[in-house]
Amino acid sequence: MSKDIVLITGSCGQIGTELAVKLRESLGVDNVIASDIREPNEILKASGPFESIDILDKASLHDVVAKYGVNQIYHLASLLSATGEKNPKLAWEVNMGGLLNILDLAKEQKLNKVFWPSSIAVFGPNTPKVNTPQEVITEPSTVYGISKLAGERWCDYYFQKYGLDVRSIRYPGLISYKTLPGGGTTDYAVDIYFKAIKDKKYECFLKEDTRMPMMYMDDAIRGTIDLMDAPSEKISIRSSYNFTAMSFTPEEVYAAIKAEIPEFRISYKPDFRQAIADSWPQSIDDSVARADWNWQHEFDLAKMTKDMLSNIPQSILI
Ligand code: NAD
Ligand code: SER
Repeated sequence: MSKDIVLITGSCGQIGTELAVKLRESLGVDNVIASDIREPNEILKASGPFESIDILDKASLHDVVAKYGVNQIYHLASLLSATGEKNPKLAWEVNMGGLLNILDLAKEQKLNKVFWPSSIAVFGPNTPKVNTPQEVITEPSTVYGISKLAGERWCDYYFQKYGLDVRSIRYPGLISYKTLPGGGTTDYAVDIYFKAIKDKKYECFLKEDTRMPMMYMDDAIRGTIDLMDAPSEKISIRSSYNFTAMSFTPEEVYAAIKAEIPEFRISYKPDFRQAIADSWPQSIDDSVARADWNWQHEFDLAKMTKDMLSNIPQSILI
């Protein structure tokens, strides 16, 4: 069996930075090639090989795959929901053009596996909001969500037509302290922890009762790698799996932080991201992922809050 040589696109981002470090621990430093259109941060630069690649430049992607003998790709390069609404055409170009480049390359070069994340943004205002099932009406209202829904259909198409082993998860909002998020609607749930420590106050861009599905980064990375390691016959969904850990509102995360930092204060000033959040589910039914490949989360709001608050002071100093 050939050893796994992995390329990660968009690896300077919130997920890619931590995924690269984790995969390097298990596969070996030189077997995980990080890439992005922007310069790597210190964590990434120090941890192994890095290539500058624009995901829309298929020739460069091809060269890097050939240079390292890549046989798996984690394709993370994307524009997120809030950034996408500011520049819809660019979001479509990067999100759709990038995915099609990766799927084509993987098919042509007969790569073993591709991972590509979808999002809760595939759901829209007409989707049932509580315990949203795997198979349900979607009708997203953001360009980001439209690109994720189209991407899911392309992933399924490449699996059905060409046998490409592509696997995908609909991530909820992800919370982490190592790399800041890159322009999403759920970003408040990261910002609030940093502001609680730095300023003891936070102005939230969503209303206090806006409930959304969320997950701590440790769970997201472990779940992603578990999905990729699962035997092919266990994967019944080739579009994208519902995937969640918890659901909370800004008011609830504020209360969890305030229990640890009593002087912390919050105020609310909703902006254009409120409409995006209102179009997404409040909670997700991920029972198919749990049954198929034994997905289980470890972090709830209280456990995550303790971990964030104990790690952020050090991460601010780096
Ligand atoms: P991020 O914004 O932090 O990182 C994305 C990276 O893509 C950035 O480093 C950016 O420089 C890079 N990029 C943008 N355009 C590029 C291009 N043309 N060529 C190469 N690289 C380019 O995003 P993230 O949070 O790490 O998300 C990664 C993936 O996970 C995305 O597909 C996103 O939609 C998905 N996702 C994330 C979340 C979340 O809460 N973080 C939730 C759902 C889905
Ligand atoms: N966290 C992401 C966003 O808010 C969800 O896909 O855009």
